[in-house]
Amino acid sequence: VALDAFNTLRLPARAAWFAAVHDVDQLRAILEDPRIQGLPRLVLGGGSNLVLAGDFDGLVLQVAFKGRSRVQEDADAWYIRAGGGENWHDFVRWTLEMGWAGLENLSLIPGTVGAAPVQNIGAYGLELAEHFYSLRAYDLETGKTVGFDKADCHFAYRDSFFKRHPGRYLIGAVTFRLPKAWRPVTAYADVAKALAAEGIAQPTPLQVSDAVIAIRRAKLPDPAEIGNAGSFFKNPVVSAEAHARLAALHPGMPHYPQPNGRVKLAAGWLIEQAGWKGRRLGPVGCYARQALVLVNHGGARGADVLAASQAVRADVFARFGVDLEPEPVFVGGAAPG
Ligand code: EPU
Repeated sequence: VALDAFNTLRLPARAAWFAAVHDVDQLRAILEDPRIQGLPRLVLGGGSNLVLAGDFDGLVLQVAFKGRSRVQEDADAWYIRAGGGENWHDFVRWTLEMGWAGLENLSLIPGTVGAAPVQNIGAYGLELAEHFYSLRAYDLETGKTVGFDKADCHFAYRDSFFKRHPGRYLIGAVTFRLPKAWRPVTAYADVAKALAAEGIAQPTPLQVSDAVIAIRRAKLPDPAEIGNAGSFFKNPVVSAEAHARLAALHPGMPHYPQPNGRVKLAAGWLIEQAGWKGRRLGPVGCYARQALVLVNHGGARGADVLAASQAVRADVFARFGVDLEPEPVFVGGAAPG
C-alpha cells in the first residue's frame, strides 16, 4: 500500500499492510489475522508529524475512530470527548461553536485528535495538556483497553508517555476538560498584535481562533499545497550559563526563561541566523517564512529530508554549539542520531 497520501511531507513509501480502524472490535479482528503476526506496527493519525524514511515492512493502522460529544458537566467545567480519528481543527471549531471555549489557540494544527496528546501539541501560549482530562487507548501488546488520566500521560514540551512508547498504543478517544470560567490567552506577541490590528480589546473565543488561523496562514505552509510536517525541530532548552554565553554574543536572540531556570531558545531564529531560511539542499529546504519548517519542494524522498535536516543541524551546532532535536517521528529507516 502506498503511503504517499498518508504523510503530509508527501514522502513516497510503501507499507506491507494497511488498515483503517473504526472501532475496537474491528481492531481485534485485524490483529488476529495470522498474516500479520509478529510484524512491526505503526499507528497513524493524520501523518502530519511523521518522516517516512523508507518503506514500512509491517502493519499500518490508521486511526478512524469517530464521534464527538459532551460527556459530562459539573459546576466548573464541560467534559468533551472526541474519537481519535476526528480531525483536530474541525473538533476545535466545533467546540467553539457549541460554546465550549478553551482550545482556540490550537486552531488549524494539522492532524487528528488521537495524535494530539502524543506530541502534546502546543501553539500561541497553550499546550494540549492544559485542557486534557483523560484518554482511552488500546494496548497493542496486551490487547487490553487502558484509561490514562493526565498524570499517566507524562506530558512535557512536545512530549508524552506515548511518544516514548511508539507503536504500542492506539488512542481511541480523548476527553478534554474545558473550564466554564474562560480567559483569552493572548500574551503571545503575534496574537496580541493580530487582535490589536482588528481593534479587538476583549476577544471572544472565536475571535482568538480566527486570529490564530490568520497568523498560521501567513507564516506556515499549508500541507495541502506544499509538503511539510510543521516545525521540524523542537525549540532547544539550554542551561542559564549556556544562554548567558550566547546572549552576550547575540544580544537580539529570542529567549524564553523556563520555570526550572533553564532557557528555551527559538530554533527558527538559530536556523535563520545559520543562513538556512529559504535555502534548499536538493528537493528539501527551510520554508522562506518560517525557517523551522522543512518543506518538500517536490519529489523528495525520506533520505533527502534526513540529509537536509542533518545539514541544518550541523550548521546550527557549528555556529551556536546548540544541538537541535528533530520533532517528528521517524519511521521505516534509520532515525537521526
Ligand atoms: N524566528 C526567526 N526566524 C524564523 C522563525 C522564527 O527569527 O525563521 C523567531 C521569531 O521571530 C520569534 C521566534 O523565533 O522571535 C519564535 O518564532 P515563532 O513565534 O514563529 O514560533 P516557533 O518557536 O518557531 C513554535 C512552535 C510552533 C507554534 C509556534 C507558535 C515548536 C517546535 N514550534 O514555533 O508549532 O505554532 O511556536 O506558538 O515549539 C509545530 O510544532 O509544528 C508548530 C508549528
